[in-house]
Amino acid sequence: MSEQTGGIDNVMQETRLFPPSEEFASAASIGSLEAYQQLYDQAKADPVAFWGELGQQELHWFEPFNEILQWDEPYAKWFVGGKTNVSYNCLDAHLDTERRDKLAIIWEGEPGDKRTLTYAQLHSEVCRFANALKSVGVGEGDVVSVYMPMVPELAIAMLACARIGAIHSVIFGGFSAESIADRNNDASAKVVLTADGGWRRGKVLELKKTVDEALEKSPTVESVIVLKRTENAVEMVEGRDYWWHDLLDNVDDDCPAKPLDSEAPLFILYTSGSTGKPKGIKHTTAGYNLYAKKTFEWVFDHRDDDIYWCTADCGWITGHSYIVYGPLSAGATALMYEGAPNFPEEDRFWDLVEKHQVTILYTAPTAIRAFIKWGDHHVEKHDLSSLRLLGTVGEGINPEAWIWYHEKIGSERCPIVDTWWQTETGGIMMSPLPGAIATKPGSCTKPLPGIIPAIVDESGAPVGQNQGGWLVMTHPWPGMLRGIWGDDERFKDQYWSAVPGNYLAGDNARCDEDGYYWIMGRIDDVINVSGHRLSTIEVESALVSHPSVAEAAAVGRKDDLKGQAIAVFVTVVGAEPTEELKQELKQHVRNEIGALAQPDDVRFTNALPKTRSGKIMRRLLKDIAEGTESVGDTSTLEDYSVLAQLRAQDE
Ligand code: WTA
Repeated sequence: MSEQTGGIDNVMQETRLFPPSEEFASAASIGSLEAYQQLYDQAKADPVAFWGELGQQELHWFEPFNEILQWDEPYAKWFVGGKTNVSYNCLDAHLDTERRDKLAIIWEGEPGDKRTLTYAQLHSEVCRFANALKSVGVGEGDVVSVYMPMVPELAIAMLACARIGAIHSVIFGGFSAESIADRNNDASAKVVLTADGGWRRGKVLELKKTVDEALEKSPTVESVIVLKRTENAVEMVEGRDYWWHDLLDNVDDDCPAKPLDSEAPLFILYTSGSTGKPKGIKHTTAGYNLYAKKTFEWVFDHRDDDIYWCTADCGWITGHSYIVYGPLSAGATALMYEGAPNFPEEDRFWDLVEKHQVTILYTAPTAIRAFIKWGDHHVEKHDLSSLRLLGTVGEGINPEAWIWYHEKIGSERCPIVDTWWQTETGGIMMSPLPGAIATKPGSCTKPLPGIIPAIVDESGAPVGQNQGGWLVMTHPWPGMLRGIWGDDERFKDQYWSAVPGNYLAGDNARCDEDGYYWIMGRIDDVINVSGHRLSTIEVESALVSHPSVAEAAAVGRKDDLKGQAIAVFVTVVGAEPTEELKQELKQHVRNEIGALAQPDDVRFTNALPKTRSGKIMRRLLKDIAEGTESVGDTSTLEDYSVLAQLRAQDE
């Protein structure tokens, strides 16, 4: 990165503005730009006092905290000396209120089976399973790996760990035995929770079998608890493996939430680094809980009659913060779905929205682009009039996909909250507040109250309006990561060394004349053509605005003359991948952005390689474009066959 100087060129021309409707704004808890600005300014003037007051109000304290923030960069302690419990705040806190018999979770399995849990029922289930965990020797500070399908027991398990002070490490159900073993070993996991299987596109994912393989290389694991879900045969190892239901038979539901230190670790969540082994991101109790709760309430303008659906898997941070901890702390009703969006048909999501009368839908751009590719007729079969608010997370959303979401799913009625955040940030950092902030397609708009971002160059100096640079956070916030499990050096190095005093997010961004932020992609992904630094998302969005393009990824490959040349990988919809189309797409980008952004190579592909959470793996595509072998961590890669196919085009 050393030869890169100055900012990143801004080439995106997006001027459409969508203010919230009068109707939405008047009913919203923060219903005008002025109201947002006032809250934001108040928080900015004294962020510590702002969070301190919220912490006091929003969480239950067994013992009060005596200091709001202890900041010894890069180590933060929030609500020092206090004792609380996340499971208490999610469950017990509602039991003496009208929410006691309100639905906490509405669940639907992929085969169509259903289950609902009220707050009182969920509380009882969590207490029972917490006692089951205790019965196999799990206590405060023990690490529990969770490798389960998206069933209510997954949320129950997370909350049960939180209740007794055990630290969960949820591992997405698509990971291999090798990845599970790596994570077990890195965290010294004591127990693994799994199931006989889970349903995915009509097939059984044999989770227990994968765990068995992982345990050959996981010496710290003493016990395995196995949930019966799919009824396929599994091997049970005597003395090590226990059936979930057998353990529950021997316990009652009396398990008071343990008062835990504000900074007691709540969970570890592994996320892939750009190179090397996955990082165990550490989050703790009180600050994380407060942040998940408040951001949920602000961003989704939560009301008690909402049916809220976040389509993420609990194996990702989005599932932690916005299926489990945020919504439940706020007393929401959350829909949880086990399976694939295209099973049995490509309209499954819209079927679920209609059937359960979902009011808030939170999903990922990668899913939206898939829906566009599958065709509007799947959407048009369903009545989506229950929806009032839409959200996206995980990647930048291309403006054309944003417009489709707005028109086809939101019927031009629902605001869209494009939420920017990271596993490391614990919760949403930048997003429109839907009743207050007019949206621009492709922009995550403004920081939430208490969040103070900046965009700087490599010397740490702020860049000008509309100039791209590094996105940093200038002040600690309660949801921030507290470290990388067992690797302080990497924690300091990666997030705190580039710009002293600031958290380096690792993304590039620009801020426009209205104070709106535009994420431009990962720092490592910038394309440098003849001294012009281009962001991947801008080239990709230009391609996606062509009617024949469903999805696109842009990367820089070495070029002797220009420094880098632009290689793009494109999946087409309703067109043949011909030489003419290649030329047309090159010309299209040239028209949309300018000659400097015209792609040098255009390759067609049926699918793009993605991480399991749906992010395009540009680093691997860069290796393909340059014809080199890929290095680094590929344990999060969705589909190796896509890579093989793309490489074959070289030959
Ligand atoms: C990207 C997901 C643009 C970004 C919650 C970030 C986004 C990384 C957006 C974190 C968005 C996430 N617009 N880019 N709205 N949301 N990203 O840890 O590069 O899985 O740094 O957390 O995703 O991904 P993670």
